Amino acid sequence: MSSLTHRPRRLRRRESVRALMREARLAPENLVLPLFACPGEGVRKEVSSMPGVFNFSTDEVAREAARAFDAGVPAVILFGLPESKDETASGAYAAGGVVQEAIRAVRRAVPEMAVIADTCLCEYTSHGHCGVVRAGEVLNDESLELLARTAVSQAEAGADIVAPSAMMDGQVGAIREALDDAGFEHVAVMAYAVKYASAFYGPFREAANSAPSFGDRRAYQMDPANAREAMREAELDVMEGADFLMVKPAVAYLDIVRAVRERFDLPLAAYHVSGEYAMIKAAARLGWIDERRAMLETLTSIRRAGADVILTYYATEAAKLLK
Ligand code: PBG
Repeated sequence: MSSLTHRPRRLRRRESVRALMREARLAPENLVLPLFACPGEGVRKEVSSMPGVFNFSTDEVAREAARAFDAGVPAVILFGLPESKDETASGAYAAGGVVQEAIRAVRRAVPEMAVIADTCLCEYTSHGHCGVVRAGEVLNDESLELLARTAVSQAEAGADIVAPSAMMDGQVGAIREALDDAGFEHVAVMAYAVKYASAFYGPFREAANSAPSFGDRRAYQMDPANAREAMREAELDVMEGADFLMVKPAVAYLDIVRAVRERFDLPLAAYHVSGEYAMIKAAARLGWIDERRAMLETLTSIRRAGADVILTYYATEAAKLLK
């Protein structure tokens, strides 16, 4: 005779019951696929530290976006590797720039897909910093104008959403104002509101060829030790007119995802970044971890922490498993 009244295991006995009881849901509609656009045609160059991730010419970007959309992924976020770089990041806001062309290519190939453009300068500056540099300093206000021009050029090319990631103070407000002045009041801003100075961006910098040539990004990205400051960053972006917020990286900062979720009512995204992807890939390649299970468990944990949207290099693969 049993003396236990409470037996949580009753609800774990078979998958159909577990499915009924499941709290956090992971679906293809939650996912955004990041893609790296480079010049040329027919180019598919794999990133060595991110197996399965490529630099694609714009024709191939369109093809990958279509594959993702067919798998149920509703959106892509686009990054660019320009032909050449300079001090003023002119490739970031060129009408015929590589990201602008990629936006048009995805728009043409998959008209229903949501197109997000990452709005930053680091891929386009010769020094690899996210803003204008003078005497070794990354200048804030001087960078705002270039970020605003970049966002407007991305909107002109057809982006639905622009995503400022430079961590310059006032960037959301400057971009909102510039978009409105140019007649793009319908274009939304996804603010990389809480972005930490993280070692987990390492592989991305290979993928986007955007490592800073001197110093690091700690004078503008956040200190990984700070949680209260994250609330302040998010609040400023809300006041400046962000349509939704993002926390980045995701996995090492699930507490921050939860805290932002609880404090703000805007939709929330989290970025499962390059290093977080590469760690699973590397362990799986060594046979040390079950890649599919680790991937789905990781993405589920980000949903459970409170993110509505997850940006992940696994988007297409995960969507296929979830369909
Ligand atoms: C641009 C930017 C970065 C990432 C997204 N946008 C790199 C950085 O800040 O150095 C990182 C994404 C990733 O690691 O997957 N500023």
